[in-house]
Amino acid sequence: MSATIAVLPGDYIGPEIMQAGLAVLAAAAATTDFTYSLKTYPFGGAAIDATGEPLPEATLKGAQAADAILLAAIGGPKWDAAPQRPEAGLLAIRKALGLFANIRPTQVLPALVPRSPLKAELVNGTDFVIVRELIGGIYFGQPRELAADHAIDTMVYQASEIQRILQAGFELAQTRRHHVTVVDKANVLATSKLWRRITEKVAAAYPDVTVDFEYVDAASMKIIQQPTHFDVIITENLFGDILSDEAATITGSLGTIPSESRGISGPSLYEPIHGSAPDIAGTGQADPLSMINSITLMLRNSFQATATAAKIDQALAATLAAGIMTPDLGGSATTDSMTQAIIERIKAAD
Ligand code: NAD
Ligand code: IPM
Ligand code: MN
Repeated sequence: MSATIAVLPGDYIGPEIMQAGLAVLAAAAATTDFTYSLKTYPFGGAAIDATGEPLPEATLKGAQAADAILLAAIGGPKWDAAPQRPEAGLLAIRKALGLFANIRPTQVLPALVPRSPLKAELVNGTDFVIVRELIGGIYFGQPRELAADHAIDTMVYQASEIQRILQAGFELAQTRRHHVTVVDKANVLATSKLWRRITEKVAAAYPDVTVDFEYVDAASMKIIQQPTHFDVIITENLFGDILSDEAATITGSLGTIPSESRGISGPSLYEPIHGSAPDIAGTGQADPLSMINSITLMLRNSFQATATAAKIDQALAATLAAGIMTPDLGGSATTDSMTQAIIERIKAAD
């Protein structure tokens, strides 16, 4: 059966890295038995320009009907003052599809160890996953108000929302090194206190998984000081947003890290964790690795296309090992030359 993939290129570097990722996918699929069809939809700022809305009905319907969704990145200065921002479309699609679990892996490939801002002895062997709650907390809580003399955001969590994200994280830990760290601010926040109570209950069902708790301030330090300490970090929406950009940086660049956003059923959405990088759009400097890694995550998790994903992984690792990388990692390759180098290695391995 052929896979249907909804493609949302988005804004600024979004279309550049999407094109790169899809070229790599096409090359890897041609050497294996993975068959698929693509349907492209406007989303984010591009959709505001085309239709007036960041998430047009046809885009949402197309995404819902697909087997998986690929998103590059949205947003940027062009729409910062727009009545509806591109970011509103991103929050809306996550909510509409019930994508509560956002999986953000931080892995440092051997070829990238020298590119990390951290010392090699600290970063060697780093391999952890941030499981970020994605459709609750302060991003969505009511009341929300912006007035001239005050503003309100509300962090709300239902016990059921906490339970399901914890379960997703514990299940993931069972497939890895059996260690969960719940990151919170339980010394101050009521929502964090509830997270701790529910963690105690959920943890009882996973006796093979050890759990510890860290306050978010201390955890942000430990991610830098001892990144190998972590296996699975489970945390609420805003903390997960912040910690995942921090974690990405220790791999050498924010431009390498993919993510999967998963619901109870229906298609998952795969996207880089970074944004549309308006500062480098159109210069050929965008690192395509985050998009390519999002595609391999999709191949494995939505389509069990392990052989196709492995081809891409091997070609990517070989490209980096040959010192070919974009400027964010200290190299001089362009988006296009990096992509071609990976494709050459996919073809050579065939
Ligand atoms: P950003 O993640 O776009 O960029 C931060 C820094 O990282 C920039 O210096 C950028 O050049 C660099 N960078 C990011 N991706 C890169 C890549 N693939 N290759 C090389 N360098 C890369 O964050 P920002 O500048 O704060 O936000 C820009 C816009 O993106 C904003 O509108 C923001 O809301 C939006 N945004 C969208 C998403 C998304 O689509 N999921 C995520 C984050 C931010
Ligand atoms: C991300 C982004 C989004 C978020 C923004 C653009 C709404 O930063 O995907 O990490 O905060 O979730
Ligand atoms: Mn973010």
